[in-house]
Amino acid sequence: TFINEISKFRVLESQIKDKLQLEHVIVIPGNSDAHETVKEQLGKACVQYLSSILSAEQTVAITGGTTMSEVANMMTPLAHAKNCTFVPARGGLGEQVENQANTICAEMAKKANGKYRMLYVPDPLSEESYQTIKEEPAIKEIVELIHDAAVVIHGIGDAVTMAERRKASSTVMRKIKDKHAVSEAFGYYLDKNGEVVHKVRTVGLQLDDLKNANKVITVAGGKSKTQAILSFFKQAKSDVLITDEAAANQLLKGD
Ligand code: BG6
Repeated sequence: TFINEISKFRVLESQIKDKLQLEHVIVIPGNSDAHETVKEQLGKACVQYLSSILSAEQTVAITGGTTMSEVANMMTPLAHAKNCTFVPARGGLGEQVENQANTICAEMAKKANGKYRMLYVPDPLSEESYQTIKEEPAIKEIVELIHDAAVVIHGIGDAVTMAERRKASSTVMRKIKDKHAVSEAFGYYLDKNGEVVHKVRTVGLQLDDLKNANKVITVAGGKSKTQAILSFFKQAKSDVLITDEAAANQLLKGD
């Protein structure tokens, strides 16, 4: 029955909450690997959650990716959170335009009736350019905004999938494979124990900075992301996980 279905999801949510030590978990039906509409529902759930916690004038830092793009797609005016600012969590990262955090945060801001700021950094950056760029006043200003963000919303990817999508060099690809990276988030590639295997050099939020945000919201679903999700939570601090049934069931089996 419908009631049984609902309580099945509430049970899944509370089991994951306990297992990953989170403040809040939302599980939506289906498997986003198999159906695009499930990813839309992840986006919708994220927008609903965001509108319940966000207050006026706050800054929201977001990452890129197809999941975050669905969050933007489902964004609505945020009635209780006027004048919020959306910023990309990190620069560049080598994504195609439609998957870039800059693009997604502009769309989110427009739909939420908020503001946005962009972070223009070429990618990949040499060590030398990185040192210079991060001292540029215009970059410094936006990086400060990013660091002060009250809310961070981000995706998690499978390591090899993300490295391929970003056209990582053969050296980086070898490192990721040899050191068995399974997840990627914020440009960090992590192994199954959550150890950093490789990190993309760019400005913006570092994993360590996540503890400064009031609320970190992770949005990741699909059975194929199970290992990636588990690995991320071994390293990083997040408060909320929004995922789908397929990933949720697998998460409870894995370690
Ligand atoms: C990227 C984020 O753009 O999207 C990554 O910067 C994340 O940290 C990835 O791993 C997830 O992508 P998708 O398309 O699976 O939502």
